[in-house]
Amino acid sequence: MPDVYPINDYGPIMPGLVMGMVAIVHVFLAQFAVGGGILLCYFQWLKMTGRDANAGRFVDGYFKVLVLISFVMGALTGVAIWFTAIQISAGTIGSMVLNFHWLWATEWTFFCLEIAAGYSFYRYHARLSDRTSLWLLAIYAFAAWMSLFLINGILSWQLTPGNWLKTESVADGFFNPSFWPSLLFRTVVSVTLAALAACVVINLMKIDREAKARLIHRASLLLVPMLSMPLLGVWFLAVMPADSRGWVLGESPAMMLFLNISIAASLLIGAYAIVGLVIKNLYINGATATLLLLLAFGATAGGEFVREGARKPFSIRQVLYSNSIRPEDVARLREVGCLADDPYPLKTDIEFPNLQVRDGAKVFRRQCAVCHTVEGTNGVTHLTNTWDADQMRMNIAKLQKTKPFMPPFAGTADELESLVQFLRWSHDDRPEEWKLSDDPATLDRIQVWLDEAGTKPGNFKQYEELAGVGD
Ligand code: HEC
Repeated sequence: MPDVYPINDYGPIMPGLVMGMVAIVHVFLAQFAVGGGILLCYFQWLKMTGRDANAGRFVDGYFKVLVLISFVMGALTGVAIWFTAIQISAGTIGSMVLNFHWLWATEWTFFCLEIAAGYSFYRYHARLSDRTSLWLLAIYAFAAWMSLFLINGILSWQLTPGNWLKTESVADGFFNPSFWPSLLFRTVVSVTLAALAACVVINLMKIDREAKARLIHRASLLLVPMLSMPLLGVWFLAVMPADSRGWVLGESPAMMLFLNISIAASLLIGAYAIVGLVIKNLYINGATATLLLLLAFGATAGGEFVREGARKPFSIRQVLYSNSIRPEDVARLREVGCLADDPYPLKTDIEFPNLQVRDGAKVFRRQCAVCHTVEGTNGVTHLTNTWDADQMRMNIAKLQKTKPFMPPFAGTADELESLVQFLRWSHDDRPEEWKLSDDPATLDRIQVWLDEAGTKPGNFKQYEELAGVGD
């Protein structure tokens, strides 16, 4: 028996979007923290070697910003991720914990080390020697980067589990095909964010313009690694599964749009940074620096959206669909139904006209709600506006053929009909009275469509190994 957990209802915002928004903010802050550590080591070294008279003041000022943002906001959003994930995809987060618990525990110890080193620096560095301060910063930077190293392995496993599918070995899952391109890419993004934030902080310092310009030129050297981004991006695309790459490169207009936003924003930052700051040694004022940082946020958001979206219909490729149903359970759920093991009442005060419509709402919650709302973002009633009842029945019965980034329908013909009735009732503004749909011929037609669709995912021919998934 699979464990079933209900998905939370956020009104007009689809749960997947809530998850994405929390994750994007957290990733942005966490990557800033990683890059910030590296940047501070560099400036502490500039101070110690006497290369820049203001490097010490910069380290003090920047560290305060970093502490506030990475400790406070980073930790808060980190907890928010767990809190959101268990409300939206308990199955996914559960599987990530189950398969990699030692890695999570290791990550946590590095986080503790990061906090301890950072706090010691914050509290005592005025009294410590420069050398000891540098050590603390180096430990801070190393621990922060190690957190990235560890989480990156688990996140990239979701998209490219690779050999893990056969061996289930932690090492195979962790060092999966997209591990290195994604780690290197994220490291470059981290130092880029740190350098852009440095330009904002330097502008806020009370030193003359000449001195600011010198510091900015130093900080902008950390933007040079951006030059490797196109190469790393292509590497990442190359190791991506073919169907996911297809979504990103055009088959899904939304995903391609976000990829392009991300690339365009990065190009703008890169061009300004390399040409303006590094080569021409130009000055950058606070407003422009903030704008570039906002662009970087846009690039991060676009990139994370694409990375999350490209996994569809899976949250863990070939292991778990986005709606937390396992591929190998679909055939069984076609027989016994998806409501049999879902004991949770609906979180709504809507008066349903009959039990069939209420069951439809539960089928919707179990199978569709993670990616759709009824009438809000990606609302199914809007998407099916022009369809008649039979069109709806057929397209939902063949969900994975309708759009291969959706999982196959995992319930009985009865349940599918209740879903259709729920959607039509919602579309008609939820009247008090609604006729029960119990024509056996309708159910027979649905059954034929379900059988034609089969229980495999839409793109199953592209999967290397699909243990347990079949008709
Ligand atoms: C993994 C996420 C995901 C799941 C789960 C999912 N969908 Fe979708 N669905 C999508 C996306 C993304 C689209 C594309 C929306 C667009 O084109 O704007 C879509 C499109 C649709 C469409 C329009 C298809 C067309 O040809 O225009 C319908 C209808 C639909 N979904 C119904 C459902 C129903 C019913 C369920 C549950 C049984 C479901 N979906 C489950 C992601 C999902």
